[in-house]
Amino acid sequence: MSGADASKQSALRSEDGLYDVGGVLLERPFKIRRLGHFGFSARNLAECLSFYRDDIGFKVSDPMDFAKIPPVAKLLEGIPDTHQYFMRHGTDHHSFVLADRRVIDRLYGTKAHKPTHSINQLTWQVGSLREVVDAISYFEEREVPINRTGRDMPGSNWHVYPFDPESHRNELYYGIEQIGWFAKGKPPALYERGFHTTPDLPQISEEEEVARAQAAGVDLASGFSEREARESTYDVDGILLPRPFKVVRIGPVGLYVEDVEKVSAFYTQVMGFIHTRDVVFEGHVCRFFRCNTEHHSLALYPIALRERLGGGPDSTCMSFGLQVANYRQLRDAVAYLAERGRPAVEFPGALFPGVDYAAAVRDPDGHTVLLYSFMEQVGPDGARAEPLNPSTQTAAWPERIPGRADHFMGESYLGPWG
Ligand SMILES: [Fe+2]
Repeated sequence: MSGADASKQSALRSEDGLYDVGGVLLERPFKIRRLGHFGFSARNLAECLSFYRDDIGFKVSDPMDFAKIPPVAKLLEGIPDTHQYFMRHGTDHHSFVLADRRVIDRLYGTKAHKPTHSINQLTWQVGSLREVVDAISYFEEREVPINRTGRDMPGSNWHVYPFDPESHRNELYYGIEQIGWFAKGKPPALYERGFHTTPDLPQISEEEEVARAQAAGVDLASGFSEREARESTYDVDGILLPRPFKVVRIGPVGLYVEDVEKVSAFYTQVMGFIHTRDVVFEGHVCRFFRCNTEHHSLALYPIALRERLGGGPDSTCMSFGLQVANYRQLRDAVAYLAERGRPAVEFPGALFPGVDYAAAVRDPDGHTVLLYSFMEQVGPDGARAEPLNPSTQTAAWPERIPGRADHFMGESYLGPWG
């Protein structure tokens, strides 16, 4: 059988109810590997852009203007900034996305399932285009609402967007564009390989797409690029950078939910997350999940905790985690953000298990951003019996800490910091 014939076959093996994922039999036709990107629909877009770009250090890889899309432009009249800002901390085209909340509300306001107000998307990487395509029929069979399928430009990731039972828009994707050494995104001429429907398999490779564009005379260096606005005055472990720290990984994401059991069932049974542990906090069960070796990349908190913990009265985001490269950078990040009007705030460490030191700061919309530098890595036997709870009293942090066996383990950052 040729490769093309093989890829038209369903991954489901009816005799045992398992799916063939690259020759490995699994309960689902895909395996989520990591949190790929996350996004907010901002109430204060300009201030949030300044915070996440200038203070945190995400770089804008492409500003996409919804108002330039003819069918939707009229819907967006009166909104001062109609861009969706695709931002990155590493070589993935985007790991963070920001847009004005009114833009998202107007674009999705009439649909039966629409993203919740402040969370634009929680996006997970799977291993192949085949996994994405097989996931689509898997979700349809389970009557999981799907927002859309295909391949968005900019970003080039092939995807499907399923909603969780409380309308958080998830995305599974394969093959996000990589931004290379000269920091340019793909030129719009390559966007013609975007898809608004499920693609037939197989598709040509990205290398082939680029070769065809080059042969057609496209200037491959004509894509968007943003230069750093701040001066690089900080010696960060030997490299001069504009801030004294570097975000090397995104997540975990913490969600406030109405029904922890129902939403847990979706993320474990449908999406395949592994339950790491529960924490009972002031009588409320909070639940932590992983998709790889990290202690957790997703956490569910009862919405009854929102008033106590903050995050904005109309947001279901309890927290957005950002991992910096090391403990010294974490301490320096706390000082740097405090100088810029974002001091660490009170946060119960018990709600962020698997971490040793963490600082909570609020973004301009009131979302809690959790900065940390270490997360426990979990093997097949599960997490340690007693949860490691972070110290969140930043003023009492020591200058240095002893190394742990799993220090600097887990997902590695690839490439230079700046
Ligand atoms: Fe996405």
